[in-house]
Amino acid sequence: MAERPGERPAASGPARVYSRRRLLVTSAAAALSGAAAAAVGVGIADAGSPGAAAPAAPETREEDTVPFYGLHQAGVQSPAQSAAAFCAFDLHADVDAAALRRLLRLLSDDIARMSAGRAALADTAPELAAAPARLTVTVGFGPSLFDKVGLAAARPAGFADLPAFPTIDRLDPTYGGGDLLLQICADDALVVAHAQRMLFKDTRAFATARWTQRGFLPQGPAGQTGRNLMGQVDGTVNPRTDADFDRVVWSTGTGWFTGGTFLVFRRIRMELDTWDELDRSAMEATIGRRLSTGAPLTGTAEHDEPDLDAVDATGLHAIADFAHLRLARGDGPAAQLLRRPYSYDDSPGADGASDVGQLFCAYQADIGAQFVPMQQRLAAGDLLNQWITPVGSAVFAIPPGCAPGGFLAEGMFS
Ligand code: HEM
Repeated sequence: MAERPGERPAASGPARVYSRRRLLVTSAAAALSGAAAAAVGVGIADAGSPGAAAPAAPETREEDTVPFYGLHQAGVQSPAQSAAAFCAFDLHADVDAAALRRLLRLLSDDIARMSAGRAALADTAPELAAAPARLTVTVGFGPSLFDKVGLAAARPAGFADLPAFPTIDRLDPTYGGGDLLLQICADDALVVAHAQRMLFKDTRAFATARWTQRGFLPQGPAGQTGRNLMGQVDGTVNPRTDADFDRVVWSTGTGWFTGGTFLVFRRIRMELDTWDELDRSAMEATIGRRLSTGAPLTGTAEHDEPDLDAVDATGLHAIADFAHLRLARGDGPAAQLLRRPYSYDDSPGADGASDVGQLFCAYQADIGAQFVPMQQRLAAGDLLNQWITPVGSAVFAIPPGCAPGGFLAEGMFS
């Protein structure tokens, strides 16, 4: 690796045209910190247009920020924002533990800045940082990362690729795998794109982009469950309280990974053309909930507890034996993992057909005990399988959060 600690990747290609200005902005910004750095950056960038008074950078509102520092990374328990980019990378062959440590320092520093409404260190458009729109960036590691950098002993116990689900999976490798994940979410797609650009600069000297998948959610009122592209209310049964998150999502124990979690990321295509051929009652029977309110077929309001024993006039279960809700829950308690999915629409796909669906994201403390048995039950019989197809798959260990002055996954290096 050419870089020394704290150094940024060298500019290449067209970026060289701006190298002198960039040098000024970068070194000035490096000598300062926070809002002052952003302000100086703006001043220098505008110096070439005489007479143009730089408009004052808007102040960052507290409600626009999600704290980066803490016991857990942001972007998991944080209420889902309306836009997301999931970016996976493969580490360069020469990246060792020391280089990964440098990358994580760089990323942590820039994520902390941008989350607080401050410009990333090498930002040449710092005005875009002032309104972070609840930006969160969550960093994850694929199972392959630990061996590659010589830290096999730091791999969290049991963390491995998913087993195959041959009855449903039609996986395209261009949508799956990866050593490193950046999950970037905000209530403004411009903020997501800008943060992505800044973090790609940090990452470029260490890793190659493998895939990026973008998603969106409805911008409904806070606290209201959103809808997916099938029109269903999606996300009703989920952990809500801190105690729920401690029970279901966060890794417990004593090692460096305590306070982390595991993400199962699945790109699931929806076959909306054939779904549209169903009448509403067939759509509702597939899930076991009403389309209008999201209420279970045995209740009237969204959060009514489903009655899995209730039978209808024909003597059959009111929530069908192969309904998504019944099979997903199994015999266990409700809310066995955190679902925080995004819709996607990349139509037309390569074949000219629609390419829409869900970037299904499930966070949990133990993939083998939580996601896998649930997906096996669903793969075996879920009515919804006729209209959904998993086409991409990846798993990531999401390290715990860090304190000011620290950086993500620092415990892995000690
Ligand atoms: C595109 C794919 C999928 C769609 C459209 C979908 C849709 C839904 C809907 C509408 C609900 C009911 C409302 C709610 O509680 O959120 C639901 C519940 C649920 N889904 Fe899915 N789902 C999909 C994939 C999956 C997958 C892959 C899993 C896990 C392997 C899963 C696990 C669950 C669980 C655990 C529940 C809550 C069940 C309960 O009531 O306890 N879903 N899903």
